[in-house]
Amino acid sequence: MSKTAFFDSLAEQRPDPLLELIAKFAADPRSGKVDLGVGVYRDEMGRTPVMRVVKAAEHYLWETQESKSYIGPEGDPAFLRTLALEVFGEHHGGRLISGIQTPGGTGALRLAAELLARDKRRKIWIGTPTWVNHQAIFAAVGLQMGTYRFFDIGKQIVLVDEMLTSLQNAAPGDAVLLQTSCHNPTGAGLSPQTWQDIAAVIAAKGLLPLFDNAYQGLGRGPIEDAAGMMTIIEAVGEVMVAVSCSKSFSLYRERTGAVYLLGDIQASLDKGIGNLASHARASYSMPPAHGAAIVAAILQDPSRRPAWVDELGEMRIRMAEIRRAAAEAFARFRPELAGIGSQEGMFSVLPISPENVRQLQAERGIYMPDSGRINVAGMRMEDVASVAERVGPYLT
Ligand code: LMR
Repeated sequence: MSKTAFFDSLAEQRPDPLLELIAKFAADPRSGKVDLGVGVYRDEMGRTPVMRVVKAAEHYLWETQESKSYIGPEGDPAFLRTLALEVFGEHHGGRLISGIQTPGGTGALRLAAELLARDKRRKIWIGTPTWVNHQAIFAAVGLQMGTYRFFDIGKQIVLVDEMLTSLQNAAPGDAVLLQTSCHNPTGAGLSPQTWQDIAAVIAAKGLLPLFDNAYQGLGRGPIEDAAGMMTIIEAVGEVMVAVSCSKSFSLYRERTGAVYLLGDIQASLDKGIGNLASHARASYSMPPAHGAAIVAAILQDPSRRPAWVDELGEMRIRMAEIRRAAAEAFARFRPELAGIGSQEGMFSVLPISPENVRQLQAERGIYMPDSGRINVAGMRMEDVASVAERVGPYLT
């Protein structure tokens, strides 16, 4: 029998740079190596622990869950209801809301992208730099992308005027991707005035915002982190929000997320959710149930919810402390990097060339993606000074 190679004519694919970094780091035998790559929270011991409240909820589920039968493409209504309450508050900006559970935040973004493509949206506008997977997700559904510069890495400042001008040049009906908080990769927050300015442009131009909400609660606090998004929700027509529970509940591998649609016309939201559900059915049928059941068991319970709020706070406070120390240590090499201290969440981005990133990795055992993004939670407090000493000479 002749040998076949049906797939040999396919284009070779590069592994995702962030995921590739995990394997490279694991294979490095050096003891002083530091992983500032993929965005997972690490504690002072360098671990990514299961939250105590998640363990308690799993225990409860083990005792009470009576069936593993299907949950349907739209997922668990209790999860969707309780998560919406956390994310948007009781009145969700006075808008109607409908949601669908998804396999993680990436699944939420992909489903939202599929809806934009089905809805024949012309284009989605994306600020750069952005999360390495954003462009791949929208490219996969054939959406055109418009980009604008969001952040000056050398100066560590948000380019507010460039962003507003780009949005003003968008065509009515275009979508615009925004990040709710803890911007990936820059950590940059926006002022209340800037959020209002963005809301005004979106409303005036009739754009459709899609929020990537992956870090709520890890910046300034759960309500504070959503304030900018709520400004937009209150001011514009319809809004899509992709929520991830990976970081805020440390549920990374459980793939727990949701897409919410907010607006004023129930029939429009229902059609949107119906289309999202039909796409889900045709791609993965229905979302994994376990993570969502954990989230619902936490948020519905009067003792577990406060325990979760406390643990989320512990993560937030640790990252803010590391940030302050890192800002001071890195500013010795580049004064602009003092800005790391006022940024929020897991990430900041350093002015460093991809060549120097690789050299730094080879020579000093510090791992980060080529973009120069660092996960501040990847450092223990005792490592901050030595990491900055090792990275400093490679900055551009
Ligand atoms: C990250 O940005 O590192 C995380 O969101 C993990 C991922 O899937 O890329």
